[in-house]
This record gives sequence, C-alpha cells and structure tokens, in this order.
Amino acid sequence: MDWVSVSQLKERIGQEVELRGWLDGKRSSGKLHFLQVRDGSGVVQCVMFRGDVDEATFQRADHLAHESSVVVHGSVKADARSPIGVEVSAKGFEVVHESEEYPITPKEHGVAFLMEHRHLWLRSSRQRAILRVRAEIIAAVRSFFDDRGFVLVDAPIFTPAACEGTTTLFETDYFGEKAYLTQSGQLYMEAAAMALGKVYCFGPTFRAEKSKTRRHLTEFWMVEPEVAYFTLTEDMVLAEEFLEYVVSRVLERRRPELALLERNTAALEKVKAPFPRLSHREAVALLLEKGVPADENDDFGAEQETVLAQSFEKPVIVHRYPAVCKAFYMKKDPADPSRALCMDVLAPEGYGEVIGGGQREDSLEALESEIRRHALPMEAFKWYLDLRRYGSVPHAGFGLGIERTVAWICGLPHVRETIPFPRMLEKITP
Ligand code: 4AD
Ligand code: MG
Repeated sequence: MDWVSVSQLKERIGQEVELRGWLDGKRSSGKLHFLQVRDGSGVVQCVMFRGDVDEATFQRADHLAHESSVVVHGSVKADARSPIGVEVSAKGFEVVHESEEYPITPKEHGVAFLMEHRHLWLRSSRQRAILRVRAEIIAAVRSFFDDRGFVLVDAPIFTPAACEGTTTLFETDYFGEKAYLTQSGQLYMEAAAMALGKVYCFGPTFRAEKSKTRRHLTEFWMVEPEVAYFTLTEDMVLAEEFLEYVVSRVLERRRPELALLERNTAALEKVKAPFPRLSHREAVALLLEKGVPADENDDFGAEQETVLAQSFEKPVIVHRYPAVCKAFYMKKDPADPSRALCMDVLAPEGYGEVIGGGQREDSLEALESEIRRHALPMEAFKWYLDLRRYGSVPHAGFGLGIERTVAWICGLPHVRETIPFPRMLEKITP
C-alpha cells in the first residue's frame, strides 16, 4: 500500500492508500467516527465504520486526544462536499503516539498564550497558510532576481561596524574584539556589484529595536539587490517591477491560503507598476493639506506613513528625504544637496514601509566627510572606501523586509505571525 500525502489523494480515487499524520479533530456518532487527519500537505476526513476495524481500534479512536500521531489505511472516495474533493474510508488505524491533552483548543486563546506555544501554534490552519505564503514570497523574490541576471551573493553576519545607525547594534564578543550582528548586507553588496554588476543577498539581519511596535522585529529577513551604474530613477523602476511580480505570483499560486486568511485580494490586484511617486517635500505638502503635522526637514513617523499610504490605492514611493535624517552612505541630490537620493516604498492599507533604498555616495571625499559627521569609526570602513578609490561608479539598490511584506500580503496587523519564531524585545523563546 502506497504512502501518499493528503494533497495527492485526488489522483488516487478508488485506490487503497496509507496516510501518515496527526489527528486534527474528530466527531463521532455511535456507529462511526469522522477523523480529520492532517499531514502537512492538507487535512482529509477519514470515516471509520464500527465493523470495518476491530472493536479495540474503534474504541481507541473514540478516546484519542487531538494531535495524536496516526497512520491510516483506507480507500479513497470522491466526495463532493469535501473541500478537497475526497474522503478516506478507514480500514486500518495505527496510533504512533498518543498525545497528551493538547494545550491549544478550538476556543479563543490570548496572543500571549499562543506566542508562548508558538512551536505548537504553527500547526493551526492560519499559521500554516501564512508560512506557505511566506515561502511563496521568498521563492518569488529569488526567481525575480535570478531570472534577470542578478547573482546571489551571501553577506556576512558578523560585521565590524554599523550600516544603519549605531543605536540598534547588537554587540558580540569576537575573540576579544567587538563585533556586531549585521543590520544590512548592503555595504558588502556594493563590493559585489563592482565585481558582478547585478547582485542580491538574502539573509537574516538584526536590529536592537528597543520599542514595541507592530512592525519591528529584532531579527528579520531582508533581500537586498544592488546594481552598478544604476541611479535612483532606475532603482525605483526595479522596486516597482519587483513588488508587482511578487504580489502577482502569490495571487497566482496561493489563492486558497489568502482565502483562508480572509485577505481582500482586490486590493492586491491593484499592485501594478508604475506606482505613484512623491518627493519628500510633496509628501509633506500632502500631509499638511490633510491636517497632519509634518516637517520638510524631518523623517516620517508611523502615523504620517499611514496617512500617505492611505491616500493611494497602490504602493507609493517617497523619494528625496532630508539628508540629515538618513544613513551616511546616501548620495546627495546634486540639484538640492539638502536631500538624499533615497526612496521608501510604503505599502497600501497602512502596512508601512516595505522597501528602503537609493543611490549610494560614490565620491571618496564626500563619503569620508559623512563617516566623520556620523562619528563612525573610519578604520572599520577602510575597505568600503576602497570601492571609491578603484573604479567608483554610480550605483543603487534597496532592501525589502520579508516580514513586513508577508504582513501586508496576508493582511496581518502585526509582524509577529509572519516569521516562524519571532524575535522581539522580551521575546527569545521558543
Ligand atoms: O530601510 P532599511 O533600514 O534599509 C536598509 O537596511 C538598507 N541598507 C537596505 C538597502 O538599501 N540595501 O531597511 C529595509 C527594510 C525596511 O523597509 C523594512 O521592510 C525592513 O527592512 N525592516 C524591518 N523589518 C522588520 N523589523 C525591523 N526592525 C526592520 N527594520 C527594517
Ligand atoms: Mg528605512
């Protein structure tokens, strides 16, 4: 008898099969049990008639706790009422492990309780759907860049200096020296772009975010493309095409999961390039018009981002932020040096910034003076400055945070459910 997964059952109608999974739920009515069996690929109803199995097996199935691991032998029947089109008539039933009473029950649990039981919570249908969408997003990210001639280059995790500001660095002891967990692979991608032209990295990044918000994790996954000879304009076009591709691929391949999550897909269908673009000054004017306080020389906060994003149906690109509130590596706009040649993409419906990026400073002198202004250790950036000594070229790139993208595409208010095991302030277990 073949071991098959629930997702393959439709091709096995009329055949005898073996299923290996967990008891997801059950109902009984004297003569028969309806056993929901889940195996990772899906859930199927197995119908067990008294008389089709021996009496001891029938009794055991009746008293079995949820999440007990089970092997079912039976025949596959077409069933129009089943969401997967089939059910299984159980002829054999083996209990691999009888579960203790499972802590997560169909009743409502608080988020704190569920987060403590994250290792078990992952088995629930919503969490399974989110993890599948996450995997699809990551696969789409990889295909997009691979198909366009980008080379995947891995950035290091231990780094000697900050990329995104010194306030969120995680420090670690590196054989008696200070080292930091990477905040971004960008600086290394700049080196790689000079070798390979178009590159991207994908990996975990770390920020010691000391405030509790719905959008910040201390460990998150970021994809960072970097392209030699790109300017800000080309960077914005790349970001638009990239987001359109990722969203459309999830719509194409993960409809059932989005439906389970009750995501309004009409909003996602509108994610088509080009996106509206506003300079930071234009964005400030729009905010003031809407009665929201905003300053031409200050960064936006979460509330301002939300109002801006809600003014458009598509993601919106805000570019040319004030240079004073941005990272040391950003190139200044030659037309107005108080502005950085940077951009943020804000997701619609208030999900916030999903992409941050821009054109990099390519002049050695300008970069040295910014490193000084930001009081960063010049020594640690010696290698980075070399990139401006040996064949410096204009170049640009961006970073997309996977978790915020998952939150947006799945329609989740908080990033904690977008990653299997979230790391946040006061959260390091399980
Ligand atoms: O805007 P950020 O800080 O940009 C960079 O790190 C650049 N070095 C990227 C580049 O140009 N190569 O971060 C990029 C994105 C944000 O837009 C957001 O989606 C995500 O990373 N992000 C976070 N996601 C979850 N938790 C956090 N604490 C995050 N910080 C940033
Ligand atoms: Mg940013």
